Amino acid sequence: MDRLYFYSSKTLPSFSLLFFFLFRFSAAFNLSTISFDEGYSPLFGDGNLVQSPDGRNVRLLLNVYTGSGFISSSMYHHGFFSARIKLPSDHTAGVVVAFYTSNGDVFEKNHDELDFEFLGNVEGKPWRFQTNLYGNGSTNRGREERYSLWFDPSKEFHRYSILWTAKNIVFYVDEVPIREVIRNEEMGGDYPSKPMSLYATIWDASSWATNGGKNGVDYKYAPFTSEFKDFALEGCPVDPIQESLDTVCSESNAFLESRDYAVITPEGRAAMRKFRQHYMYYSYCYDRLRYAVPPPECVLVSSEQERFQETGRLKFGGSVRKQARLSRIRRKRRSRVPSGSTQAEM
Ligand SMILES: *[C@@H]1O[C@H](CO)[C@@H](O)[C@H](O)[C@H]1NC(C)=O
Ligand SMILES: *[C@@H]1O[C@H](CO)[C@@H](O)[C@H](O)[C@H]1NC(C)=O
Repeated sequence: MDRLYFYSSKTLPSFSLLFFFLFRFSAAFNLSTISFDEGYSPLFGDGNLVQSPDGRNVRLLLNVYTGSGFISSSMYHHGFFSARIKLPSDHTAGVVVAFYTSNGDVFEKNHDELDFEFLGNVEGKPWRFQTNLYGNGSTNRGREERYSLWFDPSKEFHRYSILWTAKNIVFYVDEVPIREVIRNEEMGGDYPSKPMSLYATIWDASSWATNGGKNGVDYKYAPFTSEFKDFALEGCPVDPIQESLDTVCSESNAFLESRDYAVITPEGRAAMRKFRQHYMYYSYCYDRLRYAVPPPECVLVSSEQERFQETGRLKFGGSVRKQARLSRIRRKRRSRVPSGSTQAEM
């Protein structure tokens, strides 16, 4: 997997109140939740995976010995993968909690993957997260976007979901769609197309997660505890090497595409735009140093684009007032803003 290094860490403005009202537009998804045993199995660090007595809540711990993780008991040929998650609190620099789909165990050379990766931070600074996708082993073409959140994800549970259909991919935070990737013929195999499992893990990513690796995990604060509950898994469970998956799965996939989370309403679209305007601070689509020509699925939004430098990072660390002033100045002067951050691939 390739990763990005970011050497600067600026705090984005918080609009909690605005977003509290803005994001109350829709009711919770209509989901039937399952217990841990109904859908998942421990993956590693068994002693650090702790189930509640009723089996509906699982804690994943990271201590000086090991992280931990679980995996869905089936692989799915399209699906909706969702859980309510609470992240570790206090000093979490270097800690990564990942909630993702992958088939790297089965297709080592040409795997597919869809990621939420939550990046810990030094005490007092907010968690960040990134989303990404790989298809058919496209590990040299990262498609990262990075964001902050409108709430503190270590204080309470929030739902994080990945929808994957033959037509599109949607990442959700609660009921807010924050990123949609519409399948594009030109993407070819880069669009995930083989059955995937759901994974949840906590691990030590000291070398890159916080301030480009400057702040590693400090085990004085261990164990780092993430909690998962209200699991939802909908889709078509399959044997990954079975043939004619589309035929086998046609009914489940039709059901999947009829669900409330598979339809982005106009209100949902407006919320997605607002989220991306205020909380996205890096996008590969605007990173001209990395991709002189944006990958084919990129939809360049001019109101987004003018806020980013050619490194794909926000200009001036994302202050909206500075942004507004900047675009006024730029309209007058047409001058270029020097790049203020550095980035390299791992
Ligand atoms: C919720 O989803 C279930 C299928 O899982 C469906 O049978 C039910 O009618 C839905 N309820 C509402 C209120 O849409
Ligand atoms: C995926 O990659 C393999 C080689 O690793 C190639 O043979 C196959 O055609 C690719 N599939 C798609 C859909 O691009």
